[in-house]
Amino acid sequence: MSDHELRVSKIRDGTVIDHIAAGQALNVLAILGIDADSGETVSVGMRVPSDRLGTKDIVKVEGRELSQDEVDVISLIAPAATINIVREFDVAEKHRVERPAEVAGVLSCPNRRCITTEDEPVESRFDVLDDGIRCQYCGTIVREGIADHIDVR
Ligand code: CTP
Ligand code: ZN
Repeated sequence: MSDHELRVSKIRDGTVIDHIAAGQALNVLAILGIDADSGETVSVGMRVPSDRLGTKDIVKVEGRELSQDEVDVISLIAPAATINIVREFDVAEKHRVERPAEVAGVLSCPNRRCITTEDEPVESRFDVLDDGIRCQYCGTIVREGIADHIDVR
């Protein structure tokens, strides 16, 4: 897309999460813990035309880089996403997300008796399966709607 067609402005410093599966931008924001009260400067494009994907979502977060745990969970809902780290308006780093063997934090186990959801919880950990995720503490498997288990921080 040429610059005069840009839908959301370029950013000076921060992270652009590009090539997000159409419809997943709000889940990406939830993974990053961004909501109306978080005070961060964020641009969101939903169902933007894309050469590679037909349509895609895109999220630009200013002044922030992502943790590996956040990137790992993003890979589960947006497997084609690219993480672009922008410094002084240039793309300083570009990475495709990779489906990890396990994910820590960010997601919460749906089992209310799981040690990770008790009063003094330990950080959640899930093995990543071909078709879902499995809690390493209680064995509960989540196959569909992983985004419904994003921890609201
Ligand atoms: N971007 C931005 N602000 C900048 C630089 C880049 O918002 N200062 C955005 C671009 O709009 C684009 C993404 O970051 O959505 C990646 O930028 P770039 O690598 O320049 O674009 P492409 O070459 O089109 O990326 P790809 O090959 O990954 O599709
Ligand atoms: Zn569990």
